[in-house]
Amino acid sequence: MLDFLGNLKRTHYCGDLRAKDAGHDVVVMGWVARRRDLGNLLFLDVRDRSGIVQVVFNKETHPEAHAKAEQARSEFVVAVEGKVIQRQKSNPELATGEVEILASRLHILNTAKTPPFQIEDDINAAEETRLRYRYLDLRRPRPHRNLALRHKIFLEIRRTMDESGFLEVETPMLTRSTPEGARDYLVPSRVHHGQFYALPQSPQIFKQILMIGGLDRYFQIVKCFRDEDLRADRQPEFTQLDVEMSFPRQEDIFNVIETVMVRACAVAGIKTEAPFPHMLYKDAVRKYGNDKPDLRFGMELHEVTEAFPAEAKSKLQIEGNVFAFAAPGAAGYSRKQLDELTEKAKASGARGAYFVKVAAEGATSTVEKLIGPANIKKIAELCAAKTGDLIVAVSAKEEIKGTEAAALVAGQLRLQLGEALGVIDKTQWKFLWLTGFPLFEWSNSDKTWVSAQHPFTGIVDEDLDKLEAAPWEVRSKGYDLVLNGVELGSGSIRIHRQDVQERLFKALGLTEEQLRRRFGFFLDALTYGTPPHGGIALGLDRVVMLLAGEKSIREVIAFGKTTAAVDLMAESPSEVDKEQLDQLGIRIIESGS
Ligand code: AMO
Repeated sequence: MLDFLGNLKRTHYCGDLRAKDAGHDVVVMGWVARRRDLGNLLFLDVRDRSGIVQVVFNKETHPEAHAKAEQARSEFVVAVEGKVIQRQKSNPELATGEVEILASRLHILNTAKTPPFQIEDDINAAEETRLRYRYLDLRRPRPHRNLALRHKIFLEIRRTMDESGFLEVETPMLTRSTPEGARDYLVPSRVHHGQFYALPQSPQIFKQILMIGGLDRYFQIVKCFRDEDLRADRQPEFTQLDVEMSFPRQEDIFNVIETVMVRACAVAGIKTEAPFPHMLYKDAVRKYGNDKPDLRFGMELHEVTEAFPAEAKSKLQIEGNVFAFAAPGAAGYSRKQLDELTEKAKASGARGAYFVKVAAEGATSTVEKLIGPANIKKIAELCAAKTGDLIVAVSAKEEIKGTEAAALVAGQLRLQLGEALGVIDKTQWKFLWLTGFPLFEWSNSDKTWVSAQHPFTGIVDEDLDKLEAAPWEVRSKGYDLVLNGVELGSGSIRIHRQDVQERLFKALGLTEEQLRRRFGFFLDALTYGTPPHGGIALGLDRVVMLLAGEKSIREVIAFGKTTAAVDLMAESPSEVDKEQLDQLGIRIIESGS
């Protein structure tokens, strides 16, 4: 028989009880985390959002409560009335470990089926099972901690933005396509057959229109939707801190975001300092082989092309530059390990990987016969290698000249080896602003120039004339914020002139008709007195993930989806009734037909 909650009022959270509460009568409510029956004494660990407290049932002093406790099982929902007492032997592993509750009454408010996994932090249930039973997974302390941190960070961000004069404005979810490089999630219209809304990939166009509308400083903590390949740091729906301001200098935007990040870090107990350092995109690529360099460790790249004579280049089929870095203490790597590295390099697009081992008696190399000892020495010098280091050099074919394809591959090996060798200092918080991006990048799949960020990104004033003649030389007014090798955010000073925006769309290959159809309303808006403006968006799931010390954003999202974009708990996406499809005028065609 279950008990009713009735008028019973909770007096304390389980995890809050301490030695100072000894002697007090309390009422706690929660779930049975564990039950131990020692005959005359029966122990229930009761868990709520705040933690766990031990409750003891004594058969001699409180026989009724004891009998009831015998019926309790794991995850039953209970209310306990009793007195806090000092424990004879304290449990240092529990925050409440100095006390326990001597129960006078137990109310069993609900039963529970046996859960499919133990509800403890160090469980190693498969992630799929955890997502399917997310309500059970959420009872563990770790998700509680993560969601509480997320809440506190969001609160602090809202405070910071408010104090800096920004207004939070909501933009529509049922809208039209915003080009951010992913596919859209479409929502069919019932009223307008054959027409669709798109869920926003970002509020980009709307926030720019808010600037045209004179709002001056906008922000929003907002859900964005992107149909793209998922990874540990990507979800189909995710949350941005979206920001836009009028008449800004780049440093005004950086200042606001630095304040936000320093204060968000403080909420997580992490001390950081602004201003953050800056780096040019081309330097990041040449030095770290990456547009989001992890500065918590060195192993910087060096161009060593000059150490490969023409003959060696032709034998090794080297085109473009060769980049190398020294991996500390890895000179002892076996033939097998080097082969594995070569395989990894090739899988990332390398033509070849060449190794130099630096020993006390001199350096040896896998390409010694081709380049000779003087060049090996040169490579070691260029990489400032020390005794015991392994130098990894990489060449790669460049689809587009000057893109430093070899550096990009070497950058990936640098990250893998840095992790494997344990040289990344995990106690550091290395923020970095990246600037000087090219406006366009070449898309191999589409065989055309595409926007490196999005097509509203401003163009460096002096480069405007090259827009049609030499698009690859045009630099953008875009910037990225990076933390510990993770891209946290991205933004730019925008194009605010209609003529320039139209030229850019045309440079991207849009016909007049496509342009009018997709962006007509925006181009019109631009003609009515658009102020210079700019902004940024931070991926807040990534911010919370890093500050919580998690490796996946799924750990800081209440109801995340799998990498196949499936919500295992709610079983979505799902089929819908024929009736609903009929109303929408939609017929499903079997794939492949
Ligand atoms: P961008 O597309 O770079 O810029 O997105 C900004 C930041 O959002 C986060 N992010 C994601 N997080 C989780 N899952 C995803 N699928 C995902 N996609 C992006 C990243 C990224 O840095 N409108 C522009 C911003 C601007 O120009 O103001 C934009 O959305 O942390």
